[in-house]
Amino acid sequence: FEAPYPPYDPSDTASFSYTTVLKRWPIILTSVIDNIYRFNHDLDASIPSLESGSEDLKLIEERISEGKAIIEKISKLKYEMARDRALEPIPDDGEAMVEEYNTELARLAQQGKHTWFQAPWLFAECYLYRLLRSYFTQTKQWRTYDPFLSQKQDTFQKSSKAIFQLATTMHELEADKQKLASDADALNVIFKEMIQMCLWGNATDLSMLTQITHDDIQNLQSVGRDAQAARKQYILRDDQDKVWAHLQSLSGSNGSRVDFVLDNAGFELFTDFVFADFLVTYTPYVSKVVFHPKLIPWFVSDVTPPDFKAALESLLSPTFFPSSSGNTEWPVPPVAQAPEPRVVQTPPDLPESRNHLRVMVERWQKYLEEGVFQLSVPLDTPLGASHVKANFWTSPWPYWNMKELAKDVHDSLHDSGLVIFKGDLNFRRLTGDVRWPAHTPFSTALGPLAGAFPILSLRTNKADVVVGVDKDVADRLDDSGEQWRYNGKYALVAFLPCNES
Ligand code: F6P
Ligand code: MG
Repeated sequence: FEAPYPPYDPSDTASFSYTTVLKRWPIILTSVIDNIYRFNHDLDASIPSLESGSEDLKLIEERISEGKAIIEKISKLKYEMARDRALEPIPDDGEAMVEEYNTELARLAQQGKHTWFQAPWLFAECYLYRLLRSYFTQTKQWRTYDPFLSQKQDTFQKSSKAIFQLATTMHELEADKQKLASDADALNVIFKEMIQMCLWGNATDLSMLTQITHDDIQNLQSVGRDAQAARKQYILRDDQDKVWAHLQSLSGSNGSRVDFVLDNAGFELFTDFVFADFLVTYTPYVSKVVFHPKLIPWFVSDVTPPDFKAALESLLSPTFFPSSSGNTEWPVPPVAQAPEPRVVQTPPDLPESRNHLRVMVERWQKYLEEGVFQLSVPLDTPLGASHVKANFWTSPWPYWNMKELAKDVHDSLHDSGLVIFKGDLNFRRLTGDVRWPAHTPFSTALGPLAGAFPILSLRTNKADVVVGVDKDVADRLDDSGEQWRYNGKYALVAFLPCNES
């Protein structure tokens, strides 16, 4: 499939793609260097306690020197990026996708588009994370190291207020379960709260958190009803009613399945779990949910299998989240990025909420044991494992040609009652990250994927590409000078069933 528009690339200095290569990627790479430096520093500090000549000492010294070599490679990469040098072929490190990336790179070289400020943004950004991965896989001691893990965990810990609040909301829903079962309208109201919570959970991906504060995070996560109502006006395309009608057409008894192509770990993954829980526990329409992770560290904060497993452990740990005495800042303070009006919420009763959280997460664990929830790869899959289907999610390709490029992924999703693509990067891949006019129908932008299976994109806008928005709305926003395509304040709920294309 050839889109009728060119891809976004940083040669347009007004695009977010340009800002990304100029500013955001260097910051992200520097954060990886800092992370390894700190790790090495701790290793160094442990040396005096080790016996000279011991095996342990040798291993630690090897690790430190490999860490230094990774830092050097990343520093060189930053240097070359800033000077618009060519993207180097990815070394054959024994992991997936090397040939795919390098073949495309050779093709781009023929067009003179193989340098950092010329290469298509979507390709170059995926390539960057795969290249970074190769720096770790080429060592002995850093192969399973996730340089973004500590960042992901720190941010997750700072999300405790919203997490406890949602746990209590779900607990309250329990009391209404019987009533909801016979009241489709009430269920529809809850559904809308759930889908919006899951949508705005995407607002805090860590690749955007290069300058954001703790307060910003909490405000972006304010999940109360009023906060959501205030945000509704920022949903520029809103197919919630169509999604609900579609879900009602699925039959729960007969194995109707929903798939989540996951985006970010931490709070967003938590909202995915809550939405999935709502679908299987409170609606009669869905009986199974499959979650699709990334197999390598990806776009800073995307969910890997170790993140997925650790999320449940952290949520059940009595010590992972700060205790109530630490939560003195409630109500949520106002910040720059969140839409007006800013809402003051009632604090949850924390000891109670911890209990609500435990009950809910234990239900999720039971669902995982019973296969009601399923990770698309085994739960203990290590970073970098090869898995024919899951590797597709860390390829650089638009989803247009999924049938040709990843027939097994395409075929497995074909049986799904609804495939939910979370987040911005998935939206960029669904639409090919090309310069569609913003009023292009979602079905057109999906190319040949349209109609293959029911598709729902829940995306907060963090990149230039937008489709499915009314022309007058898009024109007004373009004219306003606001950076509405990528400031994270606006969102899309875009749905296409499988019988319309
Ligand atoms: O636009 C910034 C950015 O980092 C993009 O590179 C990427 O598409 C996106 O944000 C990641 O966001 P998400 O986690 O929602 O996919
Ligand atoms: Mg992400």
